[in-house]
Amino acid sequence: MKVAIIGQGYVGLTISAGASEFYNVIGCDSNQKLVEQLNRGISHIEGVESSLIADRIKSGRYKATTKGDEISDCEIVIIAVPTPLTENRHPDLVFLESACKTIGENLKKPVLVINESTSFPGTLRSFIKPAIERYSTVQVEHLYAISPERVDPGRTDFNQKNTPRLYSGLTSEASEKTREFYAKFCDNLVEVSSPEIAEAAKLFENTFRQVNIALVNEFAQIAHALGISVYETLDAANTKPYGFMKFNPSAGVGGHCIPVDPTYLAAVAEEHGVPATFIRRANEVNLEMSEYIVNRVATDNGGNLQGKNVLVVGVAYKPNVADVRETAAELVIEHLRSKGAVVSWHDDVVGNWKGENSAPLQGADITVVVTKHEGVDEKKILASAPYVFDTTGKVRGAKGL
Ligand SMILES: NC(=O)c1ccc[n+]([C@@H]2O[C@H](COP(=O)([O-])OP(=O)(O)OC[C@H]3O[C@@H](n4cnc5c(N)ncnc54)[C@H](O)[C@@H]3O)[C@@H](O)[C@H]2O)c1
Repeated sequence: MKVAIIGQGYVGLTISAGASEFYNVIGCDSNQKLVEQLNRGISHIEGVESSLIADRIKSGRYKATTKGDEISDCEIVIIAVPTPLTENRHPDLVFLESACKTIGENLKKPVLVINESTSFPGTLRSFIKPAIERYSTVQVEHLYAISPERVDPGRTDFNQKNTPRLYSGLTSEASEKTREFYAKFCDNLVEVSSPEIAEAAKLFENTFRQVNIALVNEFAQIAHALGISVYETLDAANTKPYGFMKFNPSAGVGGHCIPVDPTYLAAVAEEHGVPATFIRRANEVNLEMSEYIVNRVATDNGGNLQGKNVLVVGVAYKPNVADVRETAAELVIEHLRSKGAVVSWHDDVVGNWKGENSAPLQGADITVVVTKHEGVDEKKILASAPYVFDTTGKVRGAKGL
């Protein structure tokens, strides 16, 4: 069985790694440099070992390509391309459209098309299928299914194999074939009654995180105003054995999913006449945290950050990964600079970001911890400046939320 996976990023390469144990996988990506790197056996994704990619290339089970025509003899095609927001924060399906073009132009025989890219309910039925048909040069009846990806980069307890996977086809034949495909490398497959349910579930999962993080971020501000510890209050609430789930305050949300997916849900809600005020506000609260934090830091330092050397510790969006997409550190740095601070950042996991290199963890007037990787020493953080503000709750002895 030959499987094509369009998009070889976090999601696509992770599926390539799992699927190439059982199938011949062709990883199609528009990024020439990435394709060359993958074909040299070098992985760019945490959780996918380079040695595994190199082994699969050697055994003929995996190959990366930029060429759409190399997928023409595949029986299954998986879509794993980005679904970002436009500048005006609307769903941007441009990559999905181009993946559909590749499929339409190159597949002349019926195949199973599975979408793993996150998008709003109705995308498979009303966008992907018609787009592929529009680009097809011959009339061909493909099967269509959705199986949203739940990979959490850097996580070790739950991975592709043991995380339950939702799926649903546009037809029962599509559902059946989708189950057969994933059953080889996923332990727990959960069929739902329609693709729209699977698409909506994925968006709701991430919206649930977005609004709960916003709630705890708002609560952190309330706790501070009341002069009580947010962390102790959350630990106290968490002794309740039912009806409560603990979320931690932070400088905001990051990564490709949590800051983006709820906006897909809000957009489709509004199109259907439901004002998604709660979802929209949650996003705003999380975005506003960076300004709140910088104001707290400024107030603690005489109300003025002009000319102060501020070191931001941790620019990855979460601990122990090098992923900086939508990182809250970006807004924190922007607000610090708008107040005249001279900002550098320390993050040896990221190394280089926006043309700047990770600075030494020392010699600052003010340190603001946005993300704390496990390998970063607490004592060194505390010694890096006379004033340290910690947004993570992990640096004992520092000022914080
Ligand atoms: N990263 C995550 O943790 C995660 C988790 C669950 C779901 N998702 C969803 O999965 C999808 C993919 O996300 P990702 O994190 O893997 O993105 P990514 O940016 O890491 O990778 C996407 C890859 O697709 C390639 N690409 C774009 N358009 C292409 C095209 N037309 N043809 C071939 N290649 C193309 C890009 O070059 C890139 O390498 C998104 O919809 C995302 O929301 C991501």
